[in-house]
Amino acid sequence: MKQLIIFATGNKGKIREIRDIITDPDTEVLSMKEAGVEADPDENGASFEENALIKARAVAELIRRQKNEGTLSFDTEDTQVTVMSDDSGLVIDALGGEPGIYSARYLGYDTDYNYKMEQIMKRMENVPDPERTARFVAAVGAVFPDGSEHVVTGAMEGVIAHGIYGLNGFGYDPFFYLPEYGKTSAEITEEEKNAISHRGKALRSMIALFDEWRRRNSID
Ligand code: IMP
Repeated sequence: MKQLIIFATGNKGKIREIRDIITDPDTEVLSMKEAGVEADPDENGASFEENALIKARAVAELIRRQKNEGTLSFDTEDTQVTVMSDDSGLVIDALGGEPGIYSARYLGYDTDYNYKMEQIMKRMENVPDPERTARFVAAVGAVFPDGSEHVVTGAMEGVIAHGIYGLNGFGYDPFFYLPEYGKTSAEITEEEKNAISHRGKALRSMIALFDEWRRRNSID
């Protein structure tokens, strides 16, 4: 049976990352837009896990509705559909876990990240190096073809730097220092980051769960 995974994101980088992880030729990955099922529910959960599941659930529900109405834009003949979604953010120990689930919204959605990082560094001016620990956390939620819900998390540990370095990556990468690389996550390559990132770890865990589910349900 063919497998279709719809990843509930508009972010092309995330789609590329999951396509790189999935090697099974019978599994196709589509973004919400490519699948014509775009949902934008309020991510009002209290944790990364809750927010990831809220989005996956909303897209799965939309697919169910469109299937009943006969308006689905893709063929479900001989195909099982899984919806996956992620939620992620930066957790800084010295700030009691901030910005956490509010990472994208912190100081405003459209605020320049250089400004957001400058403000955080200012708040941490007096925090000594050993206490500048932080981690990027990602949760990946999924609704499998039998309707069962699953959620896994991954983390990448680092330290908040005293400045902004590097042009790769996005968001808070330029001040997130990785001691084992001696660089920020904006100074390593996309490939290096995918191998160690919170999202890479959570995605690989979810794919392992999915493969296990397929084995248990003997789908080939
Ligand atoms: P979302 O998971 O797409 O809602 O994004 C959460 C927010 O967390 C992003 O907008 C970034 O601000 C931050 N974030 C999550 N992962 C990363 C990362 O790998 N690098 C830098 N910032 C990140």
